[in-house]
Amino acid sequence: MGINDILVEMKGITKAFPGVLANDQVNLTVRAGEIHALLGENGAGKSTLMSILTGLYRYDQGELAVHGKKVNFNSPRDAIAEGIGMVHQHFKLVSTFTVTENVAMGSDSWGAILKLDQIEKKLAAFSMEYGLQIDPKAKVWQLSIGEQQRVEIVKLLFRGADILILDEPTAVLTPQEANDLYIVLRKMADEGKGVIVITHKMQEVIEHADMVTVMRGGKSVATVPKDYTDETELARLMVGRELDLVHKIETGAPGEVILQLQEITAVSDRGHKALKDVNLIVRAGEIMGIAGVAGNGQRELAEVITGLRPISAGQITINKVDMTNRQPLDIIKAGVAHIPEDRHNTGLVPNLDAYENILLKHYLDKDFRKGPFILWSALSQYTQTLINKFDIKLSVPEAPVKAMSGGNLQKLLLAREISMEPNLIIAVYPVRGLDIGAIQAVRGLLMEARREGKGVLLISEELDELFLLADRLAVLHEGELMGVLEVEKTDIEEVGLMMAGKKGVKGCA
Ligand SMILES: Nc1ncnc2c1ncn2[C@@H]1O[C@H](COP(=O)(O)OP(=O)(O)OP(=O)(O)O)[C@@H](O)[C@H]1O
Ligand SMILES: [Mg+2]
Repeated sequence: MGINDILVEMKGITKAFPGVLANDQVNLTVRAGEIHALLGENGAGKSTLMSILTGLYRYDQGELAVHGKKVNFNSPRDAIAEGIGMVHQHFKLVSTFTVTENVAMGSDSWGAILKLDQIEKKLAAFSMEYGLQIDPKAKVWQLSIGEQQRVEIVKLLFRGADILILDEPTAVLTPQEANDLYIVLRKMADEGKGVIVITHKMQEVIEHADMVTVMRGGKSVATVPKDYTDETELARLMVGRELDLVHKIETGAPGEVILQLQEITAVSDRGHKALKDVNLIVRAGEIMGIAGVAGNGQRELAEVITGLRPISAGQITINKVDMTNRQPLDIIKAGVAHIPEDRHNTGLVPNLDAYENILLKHYLDKDFRKGPFILWSALSQYTQTLINKFDIKLSVPEAPVKAMSGGNLQKLLLAREISMEPNLIIAVYPVRGLDIGAIQAVRGLLMEARREGKGVLLISEELDELFLLADRLAVLHEGELMGVLEVEKTDIEEVGLMMAGKKGVKGCA
């Protein structure tokens, strides 16, 4: 196929789920050689449209042509045969297998023609060609999220895909990793592949896409060449209204110490020292931001505080009580809420519905229990209040939460955690994958928690966000705190230098 040839043509595609028209007469044309961004609010229908293109769902009405051939795929296998490959929001790798084994599994040659060492050679060739660095012998559980994503991409290349779809690929990446990814995607486009990227990041669209299609409420509202639009227009097309901005509200002096970490040391899954002698204090009524490139100990920091990872040295005190190496349940009872990085495995149970997921954290509440019995009507009422208050869109309340859109899932998790009336909130990348409207909502909730005198530990890789929300910033680099800064008295340059490993001169925690 030559550059500019039409690879995918969707016309009037319609798909209904019980109670919701997820795609309503959607049009989308993707050409060889382009990076085509798909933008839209949470629940706009982006993932559904891509599930149709990848053979997960059949469309009800409309037309789909791939490589000029009319199709309505019956299964992902049909889509793969037409050269379509997708990297999902949640990777589908087997964590106990090596990179090579995972790649082999995704190809027809698994167990037959190709030997693992031949696959390894081919992997090395792809790595060279596209600058995708991965160790073929590493087990998937040992890989960072960025590395796992590279494995997913290589899997598609291995099958010979020429239409690549990535669902919010940079939501889980550091800015540096995101740039590297786009270099790879551009190389693929230059070779005549078509690349579709679902994203919420407008700046990314402006920097890297060639064409943009905006979806709203299940419809495709516009397709525009990147060069003929800007962020303001795209935001307006997406949301259909102007947005309120969050402002930091002055509060009194920070209150009592809620969380104190003293000389904390912890080991990562891979056996490295992930945290080294970390000292940190979070007070009531403040947002303590943790800055740093992802993978520098942030995840482990959240895990040791919430009891999910033991520490090998040091002391953790919550509300003046020693909570060192206590069980997660004890930490929850001490009033700590956790918005984890991995919403699907640590956060919510995909096969349970929204009510059951809310119950997971409330099952000790006497409001919802009578002896061993669960008071479903009380729980249902309560869940409904949360759904209204946090503006969560559920098409069918009883559906398993895995059917919810990514952004609504995140709001459900937040609603549950904040409704626990915690006095400390550990928020790990809380706005990842959210559209601009939902980001404002989540940031507003964290500001409200601060105003109510809760302590918030906010882990983020977006410096703009940290400067907007945090009172103080601690910078993590290779598991060490480079220093603690007052946001009012520092700037992005200083924090950036500390993120790269320069120790701060200004006061520590
Ligand atoms: N399997 C399903 N069963 C029922 N409803 C579904 C299913 N999948 C999606 N929906 C609904 O269809 C609508 C579109 O969802 P979709 O996941 O396509 O949105 P999205 O644009 O990808 O959102 P996000 O940015 O949050 O990922 C939503 O209302 C969602 O709840
Ligand atoms: Mg989606």
